[in-house]
Amino acid sequence: MPTTVREFRSGTETPLTMLTAYDAPTAAACEAAGVDAILVGDSMGNATLGYDSTLPVTVDEVASRTGAVARATDEPLVIADMPFLSFGVDEAESLKNAGRMLKEEGAHAVKIESGSHTVELTERLADVGIPVMAHLGLTPQKVNQLGYSRQGTSQEAANEIARLAREHEDAGAFALVLEHVPANLAAGITDDLSIPTIGIGAGSDCDGQVLVANDVLGLGDHQPPFAAAFGDVRGEMERAVSGYVEAVEDGEFPAEEHSHVESDLDDLY
Ligand code: KIV
Ligand code: NA
Repeated sequence: MPTTVREFRSGTETPLTMLTAYDAPTAAACEAAGVDAILVGDSMGNATLGYDSTLPVTVDEVASRTGAVARATDEPLVIADMPFLSFGVDEAESLKNAGRMLKEEGAHAVKIESGSHTVELTERLADVGIPVMAHLGLTPQKVNQLGYSRQGTSQEAANEIARLAREHEDAGAFALVLEHVPANLAAGITDDLSIPTIGIGAGSDCDGQVLVANDVLGLGDHQPPFAAAFGDVRGEMERAVSGYVEAVEDGEFPAEEHSHVESDLDDLY
């Protein structure tokens, strides 16, 4: 499994797997299951912080959760997602915010929602040693301009995405997320680039796939049509909590063995 972007780049024999995680236990489960990369996505805004978009997510929030994911894992590449307005406004600020994810939190790379305004920044970050995963197609930080609609559906729009993909590769991006674009566009870009493409709602011809963990786990409220649940963690959580509530209410918990604990807890930590 990859621990450097170099290994990640060359690991395209079987499709690369990336999943989001925003906490230590989810990250540990990702590692145990063998995911190649963990994205500490700003999708945490919707998925765990109770917002209805990613726009309010702060650098502190992504940093804190990036640290948790990095501390919980050894093998997967840990990628911190740069939140809305944390990059692309002022270069020094962008470098500081992205650098913090590596220097203080243990990320290996950052992801940036890309556009014509991020080509130079991608080059600058790569130059100083901050690997950049680019992101084109539907970029949810532009929800106020794009909504959540599929991108690259006209020839002109498709050409623009393909052109930006090439520009970001040339600027030094090590990988590219393609979100909610036609499968044939993603396939064409994947052919054209030498860096791996990671698709979400972009068909099966990308070099890898990414989904939001809540969707995969069956923990999400609104799942996009291109996502899939591979479990029912929400149901499992409700069953566990109900079991606890009933056991306390029925006087079954704590039982004898929970009530007279004489050992120290040192071995647990
Ligand atoms: O924040 C996120 O989870 C993402 C992925 C969906 C690519 O940006
Ligand atoms: Na994101």
